[in-house]
Amino acid sequence: MRKKIAMLLVGLMTLTSVTACSTKQDAPADTKEQTTENNKQADIVIIGAGGAGMSAAIQARQNGATNVVVVEKMAQTGGNTVRATGGLNASETKFQAEKGIEDSNELFIEDTMKGGKNLNDKELVTTLVENSNAAVEWVNEIGGDLGVVAMFGGASVERIHRPSDTSAVGPMLVKTFNKQIETLEIPVLLETTAKQIVVDEAGKITGVKISNAEGESTIDCTAVIIATGGFGANLDMVVEYDPSLKGFVGTNHAGATGDGIALGTEIGAATVDLDQIQIHPTVDPETQTLYTEGVRGNGAILVNLEGKRFVNELLTRDVVSAAILEQKDETSYLVFDQAVRESLSAIEKYVSAGLTVEADTIEELAEKINVDAATLKETMTNYASYQAAGEDKEFGREDMAASLTTPKYYAAKCAPGIHHTMGGLKINTNAEVVNTDGNVISGLFAAGEVTGGVHGANRLGGNAVADIVVFGRIAGTNAAKFVVDNGGNTTPTIVVEKTEEVEVTPEVQGNFVDGTYKGTSKGNNGDINVEVTVEGGNLVKVDVLEQHETEGLYDSALAKVVPAMIQKQTTEVDAVTGATNSSNGLMGAVADALKDATK
Ligand code: FUM
Repeated sequence: MRKKIAMLLVGLMTLTSVTACSTKQDAPADTKEQTTENNKQADIVIIGAGGAGMSAAIQARQNGATNVVVVEKMAQTGGNTVRATGGLNASETKFQAEKGIEDSNELFIEDTMKGGKNLNDKELVTTLVENSNAAVEWVNEIGGDLGVVAMFGGASVERIHRPSDTSAVGPMLVKTFNKQIETLEIPVLLETTAKQIVVDEAGKITGVKISNAEGESTIDCTAVIIATGGFGANLDMVVEYDPSLKGFVGTNHAGATGDGIALGTEIGAATVDLDQIQIHPTVDPETQTLYTEGVRGNGAILVNLEGKRFVNELLTRDVVSAAILEQKDETSYLVFDQAVRESLSAIEKYVSAGLTVEADTIEELAEKINVDAATLKETMTNYASYQAAGEDKEFGREDMAASLTTPKYYAAKCAPGIHHTMGGLKINTNAEVVNTDGNVISGLFAAGEVTGGVHGANRLGGNAVADIVVFGRIAGTNAAKFVVDNGGNTTPTIVVEKTEEVEVTPEVQGNFVDGTYKGTSKGNNGDINVEVTVEGGNLVKVDVLEQHETEGLYDSALAKVVPAMIQKQTTEVDAVTGATNSSNGLMGAVADALKDATK
């Protein structure tokens, strides 16, 4: 029987956006000037639209912050994130479990501390690790794809999560974040430079002075998140903190100039480890293209200009880089075969850009890269025997994913390049910025490469992407809470706007007691309260009485989950990807109501 079932749709949230910025009457005279009616108003201003800034913006919005504005000095979003190839390190994930990989948060912490030479702030590392699994889940929930786990340098087990098609992680992340930002209608002001974080005489943050084609203006706000990235593209700053890096090429986008460090320190922020600058071992010296560590993780080796291996290729970046710098011309070749090429689609971009040399035989490859053919042949033969025996007799490499015996053979010239600045603004585990006296700067948060302390003296590959998502989300969450705690209104008022009739055909007969019942459960942003109606033993109607979910995400959950529950006469239906918490909240609330309708 086809039955018409009424489903109450809750209308879009009416936003009574009382920004805390409207409470400026106490501000001293000099800053009052800046809080004129012409100023733009926001609850939270996020400076920087790279991975950390966009994660923070999305999370703040998901937590109910209604007035989030992102400013970005470049003409596009993405920052260094769009260049990230490797992936996101996470432990205790379902993807590791599916592959039978035994990992633990303790081991991930241990690897990260060891890689960072114990200079890392262990509390920050613990926060990074303990939130890493949730970071993978969150990226996937909002439409991303981190479905494959693999090996990377300095990791004891396969831990780096990347897209299922093994393509570069960065473009996938940026596309996912851009889409969410659009769905959540978060304004991003491109080609807009943050000039100053404005504070009043009491040190309270009141806004951000910006400059763009329209001139200079101020966005009044309650909380600021600095997510401007590192300073790897500011060679003066790099050399100031590490003179030994003069003349090195780099992998950073042009916007990574350390602006956030200046913005933060100007209002008293402390910095940490600014002299800790990471060089990545495998960068094309001509184009500055980074060859992802994933190529080595998936099996490639490094040979010097004599055709010999010289290092365990999967040691940490500092060690591998130092080893390359000891070779003739401070250069090496990344060598791999067809099997490795086919295992990692990120390699296609190097091949299509003409960065690799390819050959049908090892001898031919040697000739093309001008190394001694007999030596290279011997190196490859030895390596294949180590791989077969599971023991690298020369360098103790443990993970040898490929025998490198499948033609064609490939080589790419590489040398170390400036990759990541591990020092930056000092933060605590809430992503709050700490001042030089060790106290929190109220209302100021930071996340990503602009911060210091997470990576110590050497970052593990895959930990930057983990850092931006984990601490971006923490910054977004805590900034949203800060706004509420300081008189802002981040919980939108829900107004029921319309009731829609939708046609749903129950596929099975329900077994409930007729009547109306109320139930409640937790959604993403708070309680979801429903009233359900049972007629003729069937669940026929779900009225949502109250919810505080994120617009867009909630709507898609409501539109799919409620009809599915009615069709199947059960609350155990599929959650909507990207809106899992809202979906589960709806199912939980209906299940709670139906407890009283069970025969
Ligand atoms: O080698 C890489 O793909 C770089 C990864 C990272 O810096 O995390």
